[in-house]
Amino acid sequence: MTEETKTNPWAGFARGWFLLMFSDELEPGQVVPMKRFDQELVLFRTDSGEAKVLDAYCPHMGAHLGHGGKIEGEGIVCPFHAWKFDGTGKCVEIPYAKRIPPKASVACWPVLERNGMIFVWHDREKSQPDWEIPALEEWDDAEFLPWRYSKLQIKTPPLAIAENLADAGHFIPVHNTHPIPGSFSNTYTGHVGQQKIKAVAYPVHGGKDEFESTATYYGPAYQVTKMHGKGLGVIINAHTPIDDDNVMLRFGVSMKATEGMTDELIDHFIDNMRDGYLQDVQIWENKIYLDRPILCDGDGPIGEFRRWYSQFYTPRSKAADAAE
Ligand code: FES
Ligand SMILES: [Fe+2]
Repeated sequence: MTEETKTNPWAGFARGWFLLMFSDELEPGQVVPMKRFDQELVLFRTDSGEAKVLDAYCPHMGAHLGHGGKIEGEGIVCPFHAWKFDGTGKCVEIPYAKRIPPKASVACWPVLERNGMIFVWHDREKSQPDWEIPALEEWDDAEFLPWRYSKLQIKTPPLAIAENLADAGHFIPVHNTHPIPGSFSNTYTGHVGQQKIKAVAYPVHGGKDEFESTATYYGPAYQVTKMHGKGLGVIINAHTPIDDDNVMLRFGVSMKATEGMTDELIDHFIDNMRDGYLQDVQIWENKIYLDRPILCDGDGPIGEFRRWYSQFYTPRSKAADAAE
């Protein structure tokens, strides 16, 4: 462990909803092993279509349920000796035993499937969710084009990604995006943090886009950005820690199918969004964390952001104080 991580107040993982997969990525009967929050998990969809997340290791003799586990109805059957666990993680069947040991269960994680995404609730205190991911009206709006998805593993702690919300100074050097003076603002209310900006972008793939955007974090790791420029675009980005140094970022984008919105324009917009993100990634993968950055008057409210963000790393009983 380096000096840097020893003093890092963001060690461990935040409390909140984290995106594991887009709904389309998980068919009924499918079982997926996944490492998140430095823990082995198994994600599966039952025959009736419910997404479930359990701790991965079977309490019998330690097999990983995600490697060879099979769905049977609403439960998962361990590949080693065929013990069956239901969606709550309780062992409900042992084919060769008369009695099921009362302690035979694995931990079950709260899951929320919304807006075509599967979220899991992570909380070191193991308490139940106290808020939900809101419905996204553009998600099933027929006027919006089919969503396009991608994912990207990034070598960075999550704070670097989320802190972008408050970073007014990086738009010009990193994105060649020029904010209209005075248009950048942040608001922080409860678990919601929001950035508004008006700017002129000169994207990687050419052109000039004047736009107005509202980017909203619901909790520490799920962000929805609505951009009004030549068209109306909605971008989802959600990052989920794999371990202390790596996150998996999933990215979804759609545009309103307005008149004059050609396939070419949509591709252009999507390429710009993705490559704009990659410009940030290069910085994130190589930067270090500074507990006391030396800030200047043109920077965004980094301190305010960190106070807000600290609520997700603080015991729930003290989270409200941390957010103030
Ligand atoms: S290890 Fe899972 S049933 Fe034996
Ligand atoms: Fe950025």
